[in-house]
Amino acid sequence: PPIDESRVVRVESPADGVRLLRVDRPAARNALSMEVRRQLAGYLGECARSTEVRCVVLAGNPQAFAAGADIKEMADAGTVDMMKRGVLDLWRATAACPKPVIAAVRGYALGGGCELAQLCDIIVAGRSAKFGQPEIKIGIMPGGGGTQRLTAAVGKHKALRYLLTGDVFGADEAFAMGLVSEVVADDAVEPTAIAMACRIAAMPPLAAELIKDVVMRGMDMPLEAALTLETRALHLLFSTRDQKEGMAAFIEKRAPAFTGT
Ligand code: CAA
Repeated sequence: PPIDESRVVRVESPADGVRLLRVDRPAARNALSMEVRRQLAGYLGECARSTEVRCVVLAGNPQAFAAGADIKEMADAGTVDMMKRGVLDLWRATAACPKPVIAAVRGYALGGGCELAQLCDIIVAGRSAKFGQPEIKIGIMPGGGGTQRLTAAVGKHKALRYLLTGDVFGADEAFAMGLVSEVVADDAVEPTAIAMACRIAAMPPLAAELIKDVVMRGMDMPLEAALTLETRALHLLFSTRDQKEGMAAFIEKRAPAFTGT
């Protein structure tokens, strides 16, 4: 049966403050159709605006986090068709979430799927997860940040080794290269990602957002400017109640109650 594109991303609420967005197109190994991309960007925008959501988990299914762009959707496309699809805007909208986003990767994370994981802030991978940028094998190249984010994460020589051969690599190799944050048993991927999201959700959210913001912006800046941005952001947090609460709780030897104000 044809895939029902109306519900290719599912929204789950596994814990207080945590939203899990699940790419759910198993018949196509979670290939990123335009509809998946639109729904991901839309739901992440909702998470960004929600006062309840403190941390987001992106997940797929046991076989695939996402096997890349939908090849069937673009096989016959021309340059103008590709330009009109506006995929870059959707990638930007997906990457723009100011709240922490954790990728929970089981199975294949290839091409655009690997890039989707890379635009998350933390990557938890199952021991049998498979990563790669195989675009070259089908006559194209990455278009969702793979040439830039992969290189930033693992360095030029490792990145080009995989970008030019299209070879797939496992979770342990990805961890050794610095592409993933943590490797766990396949069954533990989502519980681990959700538990980490819960711990982040319990942190003062303004501090979490500023930490992410300074890390992301700082990567594109000269060091001195980035260090100034860091200091200004730190000083800003001294006008939040959560700073007063966090420090008072430490001194009074009690658990802090953060309010996001
Ligand atoms: N696009 C469209 N359909 C896909 C797909 C994709 N990226 N990946 C898998 N599928 C479909 C298959 O066509 C197949 O459909 P049918 O049942 O209708 O034949 C179904 O999913 C199952 O796939 P397989 O039978 O191949 O499953 P497998 O378990 O043997 O292999 C796989 C899984 C290794 C992921 C293999 O499917 C594969 O190599 N997929 C393509 C990976 C790829 O090249 N990704 C890069 C895409 S380009 C890109 O991402 C660049 C960009 O942003 C511009």
